[in-house]
Amino acid sequence: MTTTETLDVQPTPLALLLLGREADPRSERGVNCPGDLPAPSDPDLVERARTAKAKLGEKVFILGHHYQRDEVIEFADVTGDSFKLARDAAGRPEAEYIVFCGVHFMAESADILTSEAQAVILPDLAAGCSMADMATAEQVAECWDVLTEAGVADVTVPVSYMNSSADIKAFTGRHGGTICTSSNAKRALEWAFAEGGPRQNKVLFLPDQHLGRNTAVRDLGFSPDDCVLYNPHKPNGGLTAEQLRAAKMILWRGHCSVHGRFSLDSVEDVRARIPGVNVLVHPECKHEVVAAADQVGSTEYIIKALDAAPAGSAWAIGTELNLVRRLAKAHPDKQIVFLDKTVCFCSTMNRIDLPHLVWTLESLADGKVVNRIQVDKETEHFAKLALERMLALP
Ligand code: 13P
Ligand code: SF4
Repeated sequence: MTTTETLDVQPTPLALLLLGREADPRSERGVNCPGDLPAPSDPDLVERARTAKAKLGEKVFILGHHYQRDEVIEFADVTGDSFKLARDAAGRPEAEYIVFCGVHFMAESADILTSEAQAVILPDLAAGCSMADMATAEQVAECWDVLTEAGVADVTVPVSYMNSSADIKAFTGRHGGTICTSSNAKRALEWAFAEGGPRQNKVLFLPDQHLGRNTAVRDLGFSPDDCVLYNPHKPNGGLTAEQLRAAKMILWRGHCSVHGRFSLDSVEDVRARIPGVNVLVHPECKHEVVAAADQVGSTEYIIKALDAAPAGSAWAIGTELNLVRRLAKAHPDKQIVFLDKTVCFCSTMNRIDLPHLVWTLESLADGKVVNRIQVDKETEHFAKLALERMLALP
């Protein structure tokens, strides 16, 4: 049997939490949900959510990411991808409570972009993101030391995907970099290579290797050989100083467990089953899947593409299943199928359900603030620099 020792690989310091149980301060998500949740079988849940929301009135603003369950989306004041929701949160200074039906890193970003007087609330603290957990602050600091040692830190601009903890965003801000989302990754990379200051000939892209590679190769015309993969579980990231010096994109070895499921086989299979089908995938999918697709884009892009599609057209969508199901229901005149044969929900997004939403809203209506997400001042300062750089991208 192969051991970690023979592979020269360090075991992950961050075993995934058993969902919704226990606590891991190293994880971007957190702890047990306090309080008594209503029973999921309670037939009055919808009415209770309506009553509590009405009682709160303008004081509460509910944001819903596109991957949330229908039962939660029904109560969202706005829906969107992570970029749109960050802007929407920043654009609501009058709301006392921002209830973020998304995942932990999104709520952190909303806290950073809203005022001290506003409380950002995540209805279930176990709603984290396994991709964000793949880059810890210690690992990234160690990586920067490796780049410094190789003599390339001075010419490297960090670009971090929104799907990262506030600590990683602060690292990015501290080192003159920007945040990006799947809808503006191309602009963020163009900025980093053209205007990221004197240090502009390399990007350290965190933590999603696929979004980094797909954007560099598809949108910026780089060769896959311009990219190297930094593995935080290997000494020096598994790279030599020469490899680091030769690379243009240093990709962190992280991925999305949901989008990572789509394969070239799923694309070939759906093309054989549905002649003429348009394959549309999220850029968090592997490069070979993206290369075989007809179109690639963020969740907002996918929604707009289907809105604009002619009646009778057929589409296979490679993104989270809650969204694909809603799109299929909204467009009965088009054939919209899920790209994979296997069910593919984001299990952490799905942590937020009606019982958690009811518990949150009723607690707020009783004057009790629960599950508040608060980023400490220093982290907030540097993370905000990186987020504001993103919001200012042309
Ligand atoms: P967007 O919301 O940027 O499309 O990203 C999808 C995602 O995986 C969110 O966690
Ligand atoms: Fe994270 Fe992927 Fe879920 Fe998005 S879909 S929250 S990237 S695990």
